[in-house]
Amino acid sequence: MTVPPAVPRKPLSQVLPPLILGTATFNTQYHPDPTRMPYTDVVRRALEHNIVAFDTSPYYGPSEILLGDALRTLAPPRQGYFLITKAGRIAASEFDYSPTWIRYSVCRSLERLGTQYLDLVYAHDVEFVSPAEVLGAVQELRRLRDQGLVRHVGISGYPVDVLASLAEMILEQTGEPLDAVMSYGHFCLQNGQLGRPDLLARFRSAGVECVLNASMLGMGLLTTRGVDNGPMASWHPAPPALRSACNDLASIASQHGEHLEEVAIRWALANWARVGAPFGTAAYPSSVLAHASVDQDRLPSRIGVSVMGVSTVDELEETWSSWKGVVGLTGGADDGSPQREDKIAAIVRDQMWPSLGSWRDYAWESGGEAFANLRTVEGAIPRDDVAERCGLIP
Ligand SMILES: NC(=O)c1ccc[n+]([C@@H]2O[C@H](COP(=O)([O-])OP(=O)(O)OC[C@H]3O[C@@H](n4cnc5c(N)ncnc54)[C@H](OP(=O)(O)O)[C@@H]3O)[C@@H](O)[C@H]2O)c1
Repeated sequence: MTVPPAVPRKPLSQVLPPLILGTATFNTQYHPDPTRMPYTDVVRRALEHNIVAFDTSPYYGPSEILLGDALRTLAPPRQGYFLITKAGRIAASEFDYSPTWIRYSVCRSLERLGTQYLDLVYAHDVEFVSPAEVLGAVQELRRLRDQGLVRHVGISGYPVDVLASLAEMILEQTGEPLDAVMSYGHFCLQNGQLGRPDLLARFRSAGVECVLNASMLGMGLLTTRGVDNGPMASWHPAPPALRSACNDLASIASQHGEHLEEVAIRWALANWARVGAPFGTAAYPSSVLAHASVDQDRLPSRIGVSVMGVSTVDELEETWSSWKGVVGLTGGADDGSPQREDKIAAIVRDQMWPSLGSWRDYAWESGGEAFANLRTVEGAIPRDDVAERCGLIP
């Protein structure tokens, strides 16, 4: 394994792009055959729009391999994009947070993604393992960071109070805060728990530099198609009554001449840009800073960071168009007009939230004591080229 030259480490909030392309969608969980997805076109279009951060995981089936393939094909300069992956989750019911597995997993990700370093690595879906295991994984990721293979370290998962407790524990046990926490499905129009002031105060006192918001459509829950009519039907954790309550939102949107997807994406992007700003990024892309339509003096010093998931170039264009509206770039869905913002806010507040009723802010169970990890031997790694190259077998 080639160790890259040491570079001065900047705080994550100085280098993290504000809009990230998530590639969990490059997997059978979202697409019947991800190898037939237009994944290179999606990555190409993202780069053309200056969307220069990519989120993947070894748990997302072929996602790392497909993303690596697209990046090799398109060959953008490595310093021009930001690579995020995860380690520790192997399968739906299989986790290994041992230092050996974490090291093996990171080395394999480096090879799959064709890079000498990863910009950010999360311990993946931390609620499924014990706090001691999370601590061990974070410490190993930091050792990899100190060797120059990883630049920033964080955790990702679903229950937001568990994420806050683990962030507090990491600071207490190591004296060093996490660079990043990625939450998903907790800042979308169905569930806004990530924006709770008491929760954000806990992240602040735990010293967390950045909090990222993923799954603005609740992993497909807030789409016109819904999760029952696609590959998500078999695994999506939302109970049937919540799926049905979200289906009702599509007709509310159409009564107002809107698509549910656009309302949901726009609502989440605009609100997290503001609510997540204290944990956001100052690294606006040059396309925003240089754009004549953007009033530089009115750009906030930091903007909340969102992670989108798309399956097609058209979906990418739609999210990009909404994001342009949020930062005031011309040519977006609405050029950032306050009227459009107000219309979306009113549909959500006056019609969608009452329609959701008690399903608003509902979060399903994830991990905890009921979960059984099927991994039988911790740290069992294949005796393959990756293990040899990263020095795990002589
Ligand atoms: N545990 C974790 O660490 C974790 C968990 C969740 C997410 N994430 C990350 O965050 C990323 C985003 O989450 P997500 O992928 O779940 O995002 P999402 O926005 O909640 O759902 C993505 C799905 O919504 C549909 N969609 C997206 N844009 C659309 C549009 N404009 N119109 C119609 N349908 C649209 C697509 O499904 P169709 O196939 O129907 O087109 C797409 O596959 C992931 O890819 C992953 O990188 C991480």
